[in-house]
Amino acid sequence: MPRILVTRLIPQEGIQLLIDAFGAENVAVSPQDRPITRAELLEGVRGADALLPILTDTVDAEVMDAAGPQLKVIANYAVGYDNIDVAAATARKIAVTNTPGVLTETTADLAWSLLMAAARCLGESERYLRAGKWHSWGPQLFQGVDIHGKTLGIFGMGRIGQAMARRAHGFGMNVIYVDMVEEKARIERKLEVSFVDKPALLALSDFISIHCPLLPETRHAFGEAEFKAMKKTACLINTARGPIVDEAALARALKSGEIFAAGLDVYEDEPNVHPELLACENAILIPHLGSATQETRGKMAHIAAENIVARLKGEMPPNCVNPEVL
Ligand code: DGY
Repeated sequence: MPRILVTRLIPQEGIQLLIDAFGAENVAVSPQDRPITRAELLEGVRGADALLPILTDTVDAEVMDAAGPQLKVIANYAVGYDNIDVAAATARKIAVTNTPGVLTETTADLAWSLLMAAARCLGESERYLRAGKWHSWGPQLFQGVDIHGKTLGIFGMGRIGQAMARRAHGFGMNVIYVDMVEEKARIERKLEVSFVDKPALLALSDFISIHCPLLPETRHAFGEAEFKAMKKTACLINTARGPIVDEAALARALKSGEIFAAGLDVYEDEPNVHPELLACENAILIPHLGSATQETRGKMAHIAAENIVARLKGEMPPNCVNPEVL
């Protein structure tokens, strides 16, 4: 029977599917409720036919070689897979899978919450109230910026970007977008959004929401020059991957009033957050919760397990990112 390593306890939907397919004795789940250490991963993966990692696990050639030549599938518990060296997996004929689709709306809900919270100073004003500083209603108290009728700039018009566009229309917003891959005529007709270049996105948007993958060409796509080019009343939202934003430059832009506010779910060096950002009252900071609902985390577990079952049965996994291996 094949052996599976799950690097951290995921919802039962996924574990049960693996147990039903391969037997409880063949499904090893890392017992601690913390990220697996590198040493534990290298040791635990030995002899595994399938690995189910989470996004904090770096799965590189060393891990694949530690597993051995029988390793057939790495089923990431995330839609993003920048933690996996896909080229190294492909070279070893190992399928890499992710969990797209099920977390689209949930992540867009969270991005939208951050957008609203950043626009209306919800973090700072809540801290103010809890600290007992609220003594009277005030005409100048925590004036935010309007959302309805404004322009939303979407950086990366994939599934989650499109889900943001749909939400924006409910608020009567104009939606423009940049996409690294293509101008998407079909999506434009369906969603009433307009393709622009990056300088136009920066200059015209009242809100910019990042939804691209982390790639060498998107690393620090938002830094000092970008913040200078944005409106002083603009808000930046990032629920994609932390290194797309230069955090030190963002902290300077937030402090100096170069932009109005930011809402962040992801960071350059998770779980560490740049100390200058922690000091910015106009930054809403939450701990990588994009897909964190009971329903969605369960579905992600189910999909990750399905990908493993399919691959170990010799079939094409439903969400294979390197199908050329099969
Ligand atoms: C993903 O799936 O890539 C998300 O970041 C998890 O919330």
